[in-house]
Amino acid sequence: MAPPSYYPWLVVLVFSLQAAFAAAAMDPSERETLLRVMDAVSSDRNWREAAGSDPCSSPWPGLECKPASGSGAGAAATAARMHVARLDFGVPPNPTCKETATFPVGAFALPELRALFLVDCFKNPDAITAFTLPPPPNLSSSRLQQLSVRSNPSLSGTLPSQLASIKSLQVLTVSQNTLIRGEVPQSLGELKSLVHLDLSYNSLTGPIPSRLGELRALVGLDLSYNSFSGPIPSRLGDLTQLQKLDLSSNNLTGGVPATVTRLKSLTFLALSNNGLRGRLPSGLSGLHDLQYLIMENNPMGVPLPSELGNIARLQELRLANSGYSGSIPDTFGLLTSLTTLSLENNNLTGRIPAGLSRLKRMYHLNLSKNGLDGVVPFDGAFLRQLGRNLDLSANPGLCVADREAVAPDVGVGVCGADEVACKRSAAAERLVGRVIGGEVTRGSRWPAAALLLRAAAVVLCCCILL
Ligand SMILES: *[C@@H]1O[C@H](CO)[C@@H](O)[C@H](O)[C@H]1NC(C)=O
Ligand SMILES: *[C@@H]1O[C@H](CO)[C@@H](O)[C@H](O)[C@H]1NC(C)=O
Ligand SMILES: *[C@@H]1O[C@H](CO)[C@@H](O)[C@H](O)[C@H]1NC(C)=O
Ligand SMILES: *[C@@H]1O[C@H](CO)[C@@H](O)[C@H](O)[C@H]1NC(C)=O
Repeated sequence: MAPPSYYPWLVVLVFSLQAAFAAAAMDPSERETLLRVMDAVSSDRNWREAAGSDPCSSPWPGLECKPASGSGAGAAATAARMHVARLDFGVPPNPTCKETATFPVGAFALPELRALFLVDCFKNPDAITAFTLPPPPNLSSSRLQQLSVRSNPSLSGTLPSQLASIKSLQVLTVSQNTLIRGEVPQSLGELKSLVHLDLSYNSLTGPIPSRLGELRALVGLDLSYNSFSGPIPSRLGDLTQLQKLDLSSNNLTGGVPATVTRLKSLTFLALSNNGLRGRLPSGLSGLHDLQYLIMENNPMGVPLPSELGNIARLQELRLANSGYSGSIPDTFGLLTSLTTLSLENNNLTGRIPAGLSRLKRMYHLNLSKNGLDGVVPFDGAFLRQLGRNLDLSANPGLCVADREAVAPDVGVGVCGADEVACKRSAAAERLVGRVIGGEVTRGSRWPAAALLLRAAAVVLCCCILL
């Protein structure tokens, strides 16, 4: 097939563009700034030698150059200077950091820098380096969109308040730097372009700044594994684009604010390992996209709300070790996408809802260490489906009807020689329950009475078996 007639012209145009790029070497002062940054951080190579007169003409791994934004095809013919757009340090093939590396403050003077990565960079315990940024006027013209400072055990200091001056930031990651401490500046709320904010695994303290609720473009917020204290700010409910919210492993107290029900885009909510207590807000079933609700180890101390069973897309529901009382709501049998249900080590009583055994995707079910009782309503198929990932141990009142169906480590005994005896024992327990006093079985407020009841039922069961 013959090329179209404008083909030669296209070739000429492409060549002349290339010629223009090749001709326009980097600005000498930008080149000098780049080399100072390289020298401050890495001793992998003689950077001045490696750079030659124009580092952007053959960039090393970790260096990316681009023509200045705004210099399109028209401008290219005259002055298509290349600029440093991305610098990546720490993990080979990118330049690794030398023992005496210091935080590259100078990088913020690179006029077209869009992304700066310092990963696994500052790790020399004998050379603690401060996390510092230039003064705000030097940052106001920055075009940096992504700053990633991750996994730097010898980087120390607080989060510089000057971060708030880098208005172009879309992704800010300061994570896994154990010496980064202190409070998060409220002024981070000024970074209106932020899409992802990850401050996990540092040593940050104080309250979660309520002004983070001003980051309306935020899709991911991860503050996990710090020492934040105080309540979860209700203004976080303004982050309506948020898909992932992780506040786990802090010292947060108070309740889960009602405003979380406004986070309609949430797919992942993790609040484990805090001091949260009290009722979950009603309206959680309106979180139509929520797939992960991970909230273990909080002193909630309330009945398990049946509304959780109406969060239609839920795949993992982890509420272990949180002082939940009452029975497992029948609505949990509606969670057809559920793969993991962790309710171990709570104060749950009553029967296991039969509906759970119809959940075809269930893979991991842990109900151990509760006060559940009665016959386990799972058939052989469901028991095989879960195998070793089913744990019902340490529920003194539970028993299984069919010895054949019992996996060796489900942790529950067989009720009796036959199913009938077991059903009778369950019926007897209900009867004794009524005799001893109405709602006793449900109320963990009456542990002594509940124990007495269980003992009575066991005695009855044994009598029937004999
Ligand atoms: C800030 O900008 C001034 C003026 O351009 C410059 O002299 C100074 O070195 C810069 N400071 C830093 C830390 O980059
Ligand atoms: C967090 O809570 C734990 C346990 O209550 C306490 O030992 C620790 O000092 C608290 N940390 C901060 C920073 O408040
Ligand atoms: C749960 O049960 C334990 C042990 O019986 C008891 O100490 C605790 O107070 C109960 N918690 C609640 C919230 O009912
Ligand atoms: C269930 O939870 C307990 C913690 O209370 C843990 O020891 C056990 O390994 C878990 N079982 C399964 C099958 O995950």
